[in-house]
Amino acid sequence: MRPIRTALIGFSANTATSWGRFAHLPYLLSSAGKEKFVIVAVLNSSIESAKLAIASFGLSPNTRAYGDPEALAADKEVDFVVCATRVDNHYPTVLASVRAGKDVYVEWPLAHNAARANELATLAKEVGGRTIVGFQGWFAPAILKLKEVIMSGRIGKVLSSDVRGSGTLRSRDSLPVGVKYFTDSKIGGNPYTIGFGHMFDYVQFVLGDIQNTQSHLQIQRPELKVLDPKTGDVLEKISSDVPDLIHVTASLAKSSQVIKGATVHIMYTKGPVFKGEPAMSWNITGEKGDLRLVALGGSGIQASAHTDPLTISLHDFETDELHDIEWSWPEGLEIPQISSIIGSVYEAYAAGDATKYPDFAHGAKRHNQLDRMFKEFQSFI
Ligand SMILES: *[C@@H]1O[C@H](CO)[C@@H](O)[C@H](O)[C@H]1NC(C)=O
Ligand SMILES: *[C@@H]1O[C@H](CO)[C@@H](O)[C@H](O)[C@H]1NC(C)=O
Repeated sequence: MRPIRTALIGFSANTATSWGRFAHLPYLLSSAGKEKFVIVAVLNSSIESAKLAIASFGLSPNTRAYGDPEALAADKEVDFVVCATRVDNHYPTVLASVRAGKDVYVEWPLAHNAARANELATLAKEVGGRTIVGFQGWFAPAILKLKEVIMSGRIGKVLSSDVRGSGTLRSRDSLPVGVKYFTDSKIGGNPYTIGFGHMFDYVQFVLGDIQNTQSHLQIQRPELKVLDPKTGDVLEKISSDVPDLIHVTASLAKSSQVIKGATVHIMYTKGPVFKGEPAMSWNITGEKGDLRLVALGGSGIQASAHTDPLTISLHDFETDELHDIEWSWPEGLEIPQISSIIGSVYEAYAAGDATKYPDFAHGAKRHNQLDRMFKEFQSFI
Protein backbone atom coordinates (compact mmCIF):
# COMPACT_ATOMS: atom_id res chain seq x y z
CA MET A 1 0.00 0.00 0.00
CA ARG A 2 1.19 3.48 -0.91
CA PRO A 3 1.54 5.80 2.13
CA ILE A 4 -1.37 8.24 2.54
CA ARG A 5 -0.33 11.67 1.25
CA THR A 6 -0.87 13.94 4.22
CA ALA A 7 -1.01 17.72 4.72
CA LEU A 8 -0.60 19.38 8.11
CA ILE A 9 -2.33 22.54 9.30
CA GLY A 10 -1.37 24.36 12.48
CA PHE A 11 1.75 22.42 13.30
CA SER A 12 3.25 25.41 14.96
CA ALA A 13 6.95 25.96 15.37
CA ASN A 14 6.25 28.10 18.44
CA THR A 15 5.61 26.28 21.68
CA ALA A 16 2.49 28.11 22.90
CA THR A 17 0.22 26.08 20.64
CA SER A 18 2.21 22.94 20.11
CA TRP A 19 -0.30 20.08 20.24
CA GLY A 20 0.34 19.05 16.65
CA ARG A 21 4.04 19.17 17.17
CA PHE A 22 4.17 17.16 20.39
CA ALA A 23 1.22 14.81 19.97
CA HIS A 24 0.91 14.16 16.20
CA LEU A 25 4.38 14.60 14.73
CA PRO A 26 6.22 11.95 16.79
CA TYR A 27 3.84 9.31 15.43
CA LEU A 28 3.92 10.60 11.85
CA LEU A 29 7.72 10.61 11.92
CA SER A 30 8.04 7.20 13.62
CA SER A 31 8.77 4.09 11.56
CA ALA A 32 5.16 2.86 12.04
CA GLY A 33 3.81 6.26 11.00
CA LYS A 34 6.05 6.53 7.94
CA GLU A 35 4.87 3.15 6.68
CA LYS A 36 1.34 4.48 6.34
CA PHE A 37 1.62 8.25 6.04
CA VAL A 38 3.86 10.66 4.17
CA ILE A 39 3.80 14.39 4.91
CA VAL A 40 3.62 16.14 1.53
CA ALA A 41 2.32 19.61 2.44
CA VAL A 42 2.06 22.14 5.25
CA LEU A 43 -0.47 24.99 5.43
CA ASN A 44 0.10 28.03 7.60
CA SER A 45 -1.02 31.64 7.61
CA SER A 46 1.51 32.37 4.88
CA ILE A 47 3.74 30.38 2.54
CA GLU A 48 6.73 31.84 4.37
CA SER A 49 5.58 30.62 7.78
CA ALA A 50 4.72 27.21 6.30
CA LYS A 51 8.28 27.03 4.94
CA LEU A 52 9.58 27.89 8.41
CA ALA A 53 7.55 25.08 9.93
CA ILE A 54 8.82 22.61 7.28
CA ALA A 55 12.41 23.57 8.09
CA SER A 56 11.99 23.58 11.86
CA PHE A 57 10.37 20.11 11.90
CA GLY A 58 13.07 18.74 9.62
CA LEU A 59 10.53 17.67 6.99
CA SER A 60 11.59 16.79 3.47
CA PRO A 61 12.52 19.88 1.41
CA ASN A 62 10.02 18.61 -1.18
CA THR A 63 7.16 19.28 1.26
CA ARG A 64 4.86 21.82 -0.37
CA ALA A 65 4.22 25.07 1.57
CA TYR A 66 0.79 26.68 1.44
CA GLY A 67 -0.58 29.91 2.85
CA ASP A 68 -4.11 29.56 1.50
CA PRO A 69 -6.64 26.83 2.42
CA GLU A 70 -8.14 26.92 -1.12
CA ALA A 71 -4.72 26.25 -2.68
CA LEU A 72 -4.17 23.28 -0.39
CA ALA A 73 -7.64 21.95 -1.23
CA ALA A 74 -6.82 22.18 -4.95
CA ASP A 75 -3.67 20.05 -4.56
CA LYS A 76 -4.67 16.72 -6.11
CA GLU A 77 -1.63 15.04 -4.59
CA VAL A 78 -2.96 15.44 -1.07
CA ASP A 79 -5.30 12.69 0.19
CA PHE A 80 -5.54 13.53 3.86
CA VAL A 81 -5.52 16.81 5.79
CA VAL A 82 -4.78 17.05 9.52
CA CYS A 83 -5.72 20.20 11.42
CA ALA A 84 -4.40 21.05 14.89
CA THR A 85 -4.67 24.83 14.95
CA ARG A 86 -6.37 26.81 17.69
CA VAL A 87 -10.06 25.90 17.48
CA ASP A 88 -11.25 29.13 15.89
CA ASN A 89 -9.05 28.33 12.88
CA HIS A 90 -10.43 24.83 12.33
CA TYR A 91 -13.45 25.76 10.22
CA PRO A 92 -11.75 28.38 8.02
CA THR A 93 -8.70 26.21 7.31
CA VAL A 94 -10.42 22.87 6.58
CA LEU A 95 -13.67 23.92 4.87
CA ALA A 96 -12.18 23.98 1.36
CA SER A 97 -10.53 20.58 1.79
CA VAL A 98 -13.75 19.03 3.08
CA ARG A 99 -15.56 20.51 0.09
CA ALA A 100 -12.90 19.08 -2.23
CA GLY A 101 -13.65 15.60 -0.87
CA LYS A 102 -10.37 15.04 0.91
CA ASP A 103 -10.20 12.97 4.06
CA VAL A 104 -9.86 15.34 7.01
CA TYR A 105 -8.79 14.89 10.63
CA VAL A 106 -9.64 17.83 12.90
CA GLU A 107 -8.69 18.06 16.55
CA TRP A 108 -11.50 18.39 19.09
CA PRO A 109 -13.43 20.73 19.28
CA LEU A 110 -14.37 20.26 15.64
CA ALA A 111 -15.30 23.94 15.27
CA HIS A 112 -15.71 27.08 17.37
CA ASN A 113 -19.46 26.56 17.63
CA ALA A 114 -22.05 23.85 17.09
CA ALA A 115 -23.49 25.42 13.92
CA ARG A 116 -20.12 25.34 12.13
CA ALA A 117 -19.46 21.81 13.36
CA ASN A 118 -22.80 20.62 11.98
CA GLU A 119 -22.07 22.38 8.71
CA LEU A 120 -18.73 20.56 8.35
CA ALA A 121 -20.31 17.21 9.22
CA THR A 122 -23.14 17.67 6.73
CA LEU A 123 -20.81 18.82 3.97
CA ALA A 124 -18.42 15.89 4.51
CA LYS A 125 -21.34 13.48 4.35
CA GLU A 126 -22.60 15.01 1.09
CA VAL A 127 -19.19 15.10 -0.58
CA GLY A 128 -18.05 11.75 0.77
CA GLY A 129 -14.57 12.31 2.23
CA ARG A 130 -13.76 10.35 5.36
CA THR A 131 -13.45 12.36 8.56
CA ILE A 132 -11.94 12.08 12.02
CA VAL A 133 -12.56 14.25 15.06
CA GLY A 134 -9.86 14.20 17.73
CA PHE A 135 -11.61 12.33 20.54
CA GLN A 136 -8.58 10.19 21.12
CA GLY A 137 -9.99 8.95 24.44
CA TRP A 138 -11.40 6.10 22.29
CA PHE A 139 -7.83 4.82 22.05
CA ALA A 140 -6.47 5.47 25.56
CA PRO A 141 -5.50 2.07 27.00
CA ALA A 142 -7.11 2.62 30.43
CA ILE A 143 -10.40 3.71 28.88
CA LEU A 144 -10.40 0.74 26.52
CA LYS A 145 -9.75 -1.54 29.50
CA LEU A 146 -12.71 -0.12 31.42
CA LYS A 147 -14.94 -0.67 28.41
CA GLU A 148 -13.59 -4.18 27.92
CA VAL A 149 -14.38 -5.15 31.54
CA ILE A 150 -17.95 -3.87 31.18
CA MET A 151 -18.47 -5.62 27.84
CA SER A 152 -17.12 -8.87 29.32
CA GLY A 153 -20.09 -8.95 31.72
CA ARG A 154 -17.88 -9.26 34.81
CA ILE A 155 -19.90 -6.67 36.74
CA GLY A 156 -23.20 -7.64 35.12
CA LYS A 157 -25.29 -4.88 33.67
CA VAL A 158 -24.49 -1.30 34.65
CA LEU A 159 -26.98 0.15 37.16
CA SER A 160 -25.45 3.58 37.68
CA SER A 161 -22.25 5.57 37.46
CA ASP A 162 -20.66 8.57 39.15
CA VAL A 163 -17.81 10.49 37.56
CA ARG A 164 -15.92 13.34 39.12
CA GLY A 165 -13.04 14.92 37.27
CA SER A 166 -10.97 17.98 37.50
CA GLY A 167 -8.92 19.52 34.75
CA THR A 168 -5.21 19.57 34.25
CA LEU A 169 -4.75 23.35 34.52
CA ARG A 170 -4.85 22.89 38.30
CA SER A 171 -5.68 26.41 39.19
CA ARG A 172 -8.77 27.90 40.76
CA ASP A 173 -8.37 31.50 39.78
CA SER A 174 -5.68 31.89 37.14
CA LEU A 175 -4.54 30.68 33.77
CA PRO A 176 -1.34 30.95 31.72
CA VAL A 177 -1.28 33.76 29.16
CA GLY A 178 -0.98 31.28 26.25
CA VAL A 179 -4.56 30.12 26.90
CA LYS A 180 -6.02 33.49 27.86
CA TYR A 181 -8.65 32.81 25.16
CA PHE A 182 -10.09 30.09 27.46
CA THR A 183 -12.09 32.92 29.06
CA ASP A 184 -14.01 33.78 25.88
CA SER A 185 -16.65 31.21 24.98
CA LYS A 186 -16.94 32.53 21.41
CA ILE A 187 -13.44 31.26 20.55
CA GLY A 188 -14.70 27.78 21.31
CA GLY A 189 -11.71 26.21 23.06
CA ASN A 190 -11.87 26.31 26.86
CA PRO A 191 -12.15 24.11 29.97
CA TYR A 192 -15.83 23.43 29.19
CA THR A 193 -15.39 22.32 25.58
CA ILE A 194 -11.92 20.79 25.90
CA GLY A 195 -11.40 19.62 29.50
CA PHE A 196 -14.97 18.64 30.22
CA GLY A 197 -15.72 17.86 26.56
CA HIS A 198 -13.14 15.08 26.30
CA MET A 199 -14.29 13.51 29.57
CA PHE A 200 -17.94 13.85 28.53
CA ASP A 201 -17.11 11.98 25.33
CA TYR A 202 -15.11 9.11 26.80
CA VAL A 203 -17.66 8.55 29.56
CA GLN A 204 -20.28 8.06 26.85
CA PHE A 205 -17.84 6.00 24.79
CA VAL A 206 -17.59 3.57 27.72
CA LEU A 207 -21.18 3.63 29.04
CA GLY A 208 -23.15 4.56 25.93
CA ASP A 209 -24.82 7.83 25.05
CA ILE A 210 -26.78 9.69 27.69
CA GLN A 211 -30.37 10.86 27.35
CA ASN A 212 -32.90 12.64 29.50
CA THR A 213 -30.15 15.07 30.45
CA GLN A 214 -30.27 17.64 33.20
CA SER A 215 -27.36 19.97 33.64
CA HIS A 216 -26.27 22.69 35.97
CA LEU A 217 -23.37 24.92 35.04
CA GLN A 218 -21.80 27.70 37.04
CA ILE A 219 -19.02 30.26 36.85
CA GLN A 220 -17.54 30.19 40.31
CA ARG A 221 -14.73 32.58 39.46
CA PRO A 222 -15.77 35.12 36.86
CA GLU A 223 -12.51 37.03 37.13
CA LEU A 224 -9.23 35.24 36.45
CA LYS A 225 -5.59 36.22 36.75
CA VAL A 226 -3.56 35.87 33.57
CA LEU A 227 -0.08 34.62 34.43
CA ASP A 228 3.28 34.71 32.78
CA PRO A 229 4.08 30.98 33.02
CA LYS A 230 7.83 31.63 33.38
CA THR A 231 7.79 34.20 36.19
CA GLY A 232 4.33 33.57 37.67
CA ASP A 233 3.68 37.34 37.43
CA VAL A 234 0.08 38.48 37.08
CA LEU A 235 -0.08 40.23 33.71
CA GLU A 236 -3.72 41.27 33.91
CA LYS A 237 -7.11 40.28 35.26
CA ILE A 238 -9.75 39.14 32.84
CA SER A 239 -13.40 38.24 33.12
CA SER A 240 -14.61 34.87 31.88
CA ASP A 241 -17.96 33.72 30.48
CA VAL A 242 -16.92 30.06 30.55
CA PRO A 243 -18.34 27.71 33.23
CA ASP A 244 -15.80 26.30 35.67
CA LEU A 245 -18.20 23.92 37.42
CA ILE A 246 -20.36 21.44 35.52
CA HIS A 247 -22.91 18.96 36.80
CA VAL A 248 -24.76 16.64 34.47
CA THR A 249 -27.33 14.06 35.55
CA ALA A 250 -28.83 11.78 32.94
CA SER A 251 -30.06 8.31 32.04
CA LEU A 252 -27.90 5.93 30.09
CA ALA A 253 -29.41 4.41 26.99
CA LYS A 254 -30.47 0.78 27.55
CA SER A 255 -28.07 -1.65 25.91
CA SER A 256 -26.78 -5.21 26.21
CA GLN A 257 -24.63 -4.04 29.16
CA VAL A 258 -26.77 -1.29 30.68
CA ILE A 259 -30.21 -1.58 32.33
CA LYS A 260 -33.04 0.71 31.32
CA GLY A 261 -32.98 3.96 33.26
CA ALA A 262 -29.44 3.62 34.67
CA THR A 263 -28.38 6.91 36.26
CA VAL A 264 -25.17 8.70 35.46
CA HIS A 265 -23.85 11.74 37.26
CA ILE A 266 -20.92 13.61 35.79
CA MET A 267 -19.22 16.44 37.60
CA TYR A 268 -16.31 18.51 36.41
CA THR A 269 -14.36 21.31 38.03
CA LYS A 270 -11.79 23.45 36.30
CA GLY A 271 -9.95 23.93 39.59
CA PRO A 272 -8.54 21.29 41.92
CA VAL A 273 -10.58 18.94 44.11
CA PHE A 274 -10.30 18.74 47.91
CA LYS A 275 -6.65 18.54 48.91
CA GLY A 276 -5.37 14.99 48.88
CA GLU A 277 -8.34 13.59 46.96
CA PRO A 278 -7.72 12.03 43.54
CA ALA A 279 -8.29 14.54 40.75
CA MET A 280 -10.41 12.00 38.91
CA SER A 281 -12.68 9.34 40.34
CA TRP A 282 -15.13 7.22 38.37
CA ASN A 283 -17.39 4.64 39.98
CA ILE A 284 -19.53 2.22 38.01
CA THR A 285 -22.06 0.10 39.87
CA GLY A 286 -23.08 -3.12 38.20
CA GLU A 287 -25.45 -5.97 39.09
CA LYS A 288 -22.57 -8.25 40.06
CA GLY A 289 -19.79 -5.87 40.99
CA ASP A 290 -18.45 -2.35 41.32
CA LEU A 291 -15.75 -0.89 39.13
CA ARG A 292 -13.65 2.10 40.04
CA LEU A 293 -11.11 4.14 38.12
CA VAL A 294 -8.91 6.56 40.04
CA ALA A 295 -6.57 8.87 38.14
CA LEU A 296 -4.38 11.12 40.26
CA GLY A 297 -3.54 13.31 37.28
CA GLY A 298 -7.13 14.37 36.63
CA SER A 299 -9.63 13.87 33.88
CA GLY A 300 -7.26 14.26 30.95
CA ILE A 301 -6.92 10.50 30.56
CA GLN A 302 -7.16 10.90 26.80
CA ALA A 303 -3.91 12.85 26.93
CA SER A 304 -1.59 14.03 29.66
CA ALA A 305 -3.00 12.55 32.86
CA HIS A 306 -1.58 9.12 32.07
CA THR A 307 1.78 10.12 33.50
CA ASP A 308 0.32 10.04 37.04
CA PRO A 309 -0.84 6.77 38.62
CA LEU A 310 -4.12 5.45 37.25
CA THR A 311 -5.71 2.42 38.82
CA ILE A 312 -8.78 0.38 38.02
CA SER A 313 -10.29 -1.90 40.65
CA LEU A 314 -13.21 -4.26 40.76
CA HIS A 315 -15.26 -5.47 43.72
CA ASP A 316 -16.84 -8.82 42.93
CA PHE A 317 -20.04 -9.10 45.02
CA GLU A 318 -20.27 -12.89 44.93
CA THR A 319 -16.78 -13.57 46.29
CA ASP A 320 -16.55 -10.21 48.09
CA GLU A 321 -13.04 -9.90 46.67
CA LEU A 322 -11.27 -6.79 45.41
CA HIS A 323 -9.27 -7.16 42.20
CA ASP A 324 -6.81 -4.82 40.56
CA ILE A 325 -7.56 -4.62 36.87
CA GLU A 326 -4.29 -4.50 34.98
CA TRP A 327 -3.97 -2.23 32.01
CA SER A 328 -0.86 -1.34 30.07
CA TRP A 329 0.68 0.54 27.22
CA PRO A 330 1.49 -1.30 24.01
CA GLU A 331 4.84 -3.10 24.15
CA GLY A 332 8.03 -1.40 23.01
CA LEU A 333 6.61 2.09 22.72
CA GLU A 334 9.14 4.24 20.84
CA ILE A 335 7.19 7.48 21.06
CA PRO A 336 5.65 9.34 24.01
CA GLN A 337 2.43 7.83 25.39
CA ILE A 338 0.20 10.62 24.14
CA SER A 339 1.62 10.25 20.63
CA SER A 340 0.95 6.55 20.80
CA ILE A 341 -2.73 7.26 21.55
CA ILE A 342 -2.84 9.72 18.62
CA GLY A 343 -1.02 7.11 16.55
CA SER A 344 -3.84 4.66 17.26
CA VAL A 345 -6.28 7.16 15.77
CA TYR A 346 -4.18 7.34 12.59
CA GLU A 347 -3.85 3.56 12.45
CA ALA A 348 -7.60 3.07 12.83
CA TYR A 349 -8.19 5.50 9.98
CA ALA A 350 -5.55 3.82 7.81
CA ALA A 351 -7.13 0.42 8.51
CA GLY A 352 -10.30 1.78 6.96
CA ASP A 353 -13.13 0.68 9.29
CA ALA A 354 -14.99 3.95 9.85
CA THR A 355 -16.96 2.55 12.81
CA LYS A 356 -13.72 2.31 14.81
CA TYR A 357 -12.90 5.99 15.09
CA PRO A 358 -14.91 9.15 15.86
CA ASP A 359 -15.95 11.10 12.76
CA PHE A 360 -17.34 14.60 12.17
CA ALA A 361 -20.91 13.38 12.65
CA HIS A 362 -19.90 12.11 16.08
CA GLY A 363 -18.14 15.40 16.82
CA ALA A 364 -21.23 17.36 15.78
CA LYS A 365 -23.37 15.22 18.08
CA ARG A 366 -21.14 16.07 21.06
CA HIS A 367 -21.11 19.74 20.03
CA ASN A 368 -24.90 19.72 20.08
CA GLN A 369 -25.03 18.18 23.55
CA LEU A 370 -22.57 20.73 24.93
CA ASP A 371 -24.27 23.60 23.14
CA ARG A 372 -27.70 22.72 24.53
CA MET A 373 -26.41 22.72 28.11
CA PHE A 374 -24.43 25.94 27.59
CA LYS A 375 -27.37 27.79 26.05
CA GLU A 376 -29.62 26.70 28.88
CA PHE A 377 -27.04 28.00 31.33
CA GLN A 378 -26.79 31.32 29.49
CA SER A 379 -30.55 31.74 29.53
CA PHE A 380 -30.44 31.74 33.34
CA ILE A 381 -27.67 34.29 33.86
C1 LIG B 1 1.31 29.09 11.62
O1 LIG B 1 2.46 29.01 12.43
C2 LIG B 1 2.39 29.75 13.61
C3 LIG B 1 3.76 29.79 14.25
O2 LIG B 1 4.48 28.64 14.05
C4 LIG B 1 1.31 29.12 14.47
O3 LIG B 1 1.21 29.78 15.73
C5 LIG B 1 -0.02 29.13 13.77
O4 LIG B 1 -1.00 28.41 14.50
C6 LIG B 1 0.08 28.55 12.37
N1 LIG B 1 -1.15 28.86 11.67
C7 LIG B 1 -1.77 28.01 10.86
C8 LIG B 1 -3.04 28.49 10.21
O5 LIG B 1 -1.34 26.91 10.63
C1 LIG C 1 -16.44 6.51 44.39
O1 LIG C 1 -16.57 5.75 45.58
C2 LIG C 1 -15.64 6.07 46.59
C3 LIG C 1 -15.93 5.12 47.76
O2 LIG C 1 -17.26 5.15 48.12
C4 LIG C 1 -15.80 7.51 47.02
O3 LIG C 1 -14.78 7.85 47.95
C5 LIG C 1 -15.66 8.41 45.80
O4 LIG C 1 -15.90 9.74 46.16
C6 LIG C 1 -16.64 7.97 44.74
N1 LIG C 1 -16.48 8.78 43.53
C7 LIG C 1 -17.51 9.39 42.94
C8 LIG C 1 -17.18 10.15 41.71
O5 LIG C 1 -18.64 9.34 43.37
